[in-house]
Amino acid sequence: MERILTVNDLSVTYISKNKSTYAVCDASFVIDRGDSLGVVGESGSGKSTMAMALLRLLSEKSVDIDGQADFCGEDLFAMNKNELAKLRWKKLSAVFQKSMNSLSPVHRIGDQIEDIYRIHEPSATHRQTRERALKMLSLVNLNDRVYRLYPHELSGGMLQRVMIAVSLLHEPDLLILDEATTALDVVTQGQILEELRRMERELSTSRIIITHDMSVVAAGCNRVAVMYAGHMLETGPVERILRKPAHPYSRGLIAAFPPLKGDRVELKSIPGYLPDMTVRHEGCIFAPRCEDAQEKCRKESPERSNLGDGHTVSCHFAGGEK
Ligand SMILES: Nc1ncnc2c1ncn2[C@@H]1O[C@H](COP(=O)(O)OP(=O)(O)OP(=O)(O)O)[C@@H](O)[C@H]1O
Ligand SMILES: [Mg+2]
Repeated sequence: MERILTVNDLSVTYISKNKSTYAVCDASFVIDRGDSLGVVGESGSGKSTMAMALLRLLSEKSVDIDGQADFCGEDLFAMNKNELAKLRWKKLSAVFQKSMNSLSPVHRIGDQIEDIYRIHEPSATHRQTRERALKMLSLVNLNDRVYRLYPHELSGGMLQRVMIAVSLLHEPDLLILDEATTALDVVTQGQILEELRRMERELSTSRIIITHDMSVVAAGCNRVAVMYAGHMLETGPVERILRKPAHPYSRGLIAAFPPLKGDRVELKSIPGYLPDMTVRHEGCIFAPRCEDAQEKCRKESPERSNLGDGHTVSCHFAGGEK
């Protein structure tokens, strides 16, 4: 299996005059070709920060980044601007919830797609460029007509599809979608996810999907990473974690979503709030909200343990010790 991304002990801290926010703490995970990793966790748990750090979109003046990220054999954090520009759109693409705001209101959709295509394919003929743009539009189920329209003539869902089409123009090795489909209605979201799965098979793109929605992960990902207050508490194969989550927080998160199939169940929420991320905490970060927490949990931070099959968990009592 070809490894696309290896992230080791990634920590990201926002630094301002009077405080530091520990937004991501020692996150580690890997992505192989064709993998689709769902990153889930409550609002404020550091998901977007992690994605933006990997994409080198955070201002280096106010953010401290520690750890390693190897993308297809290259060190993401050692790259200069030129090297990054070569990578963007071509090998590593991203769509955020507000990405569509980056479209120019005064240019037609088709022209904007073509401009991005030419960044990496300057010698492509006019015809090739146009064909490519039209192919990408059809991949996300948009009619050829959209090519000649301006952004204001499209709905939010159509614009988001345009952004996904743009992000796939160069068949990137890795596509990061940060809540890119969350604002869409369920039918449109379902269609886009279905399209992405098809493209994944056709182009062998790998994907990171950041979402609040466990059903998106269940339906469209083969791996999942559960984040809580900057910490990646559990990662592993989706089916395995949905069936038998090893971390108490993952159990809570899964119990808070209705099952895709089967009987209705009473949904449970996890009592309590995310801890203050501007202070360093002793012990397990989830201990204050954990029903099963023991003395050890409040004192010692758990190591990440490997349960096999790429399943990792950071909990003192998840390895059957209890
Ligand atoms: N530009 C910033 N400056 C300072 N702190 C920030 C900045 N952006 C995010 N944070 C803080 O970093 C932490 C993680 O935020 P982040 O946006 O990464 O979470 P998230 O998991 O993406 O949340 P959501 O699901 O709401 O999008 C939060 O405590 C947030 O307040
Ligand atoms: Mg976010």
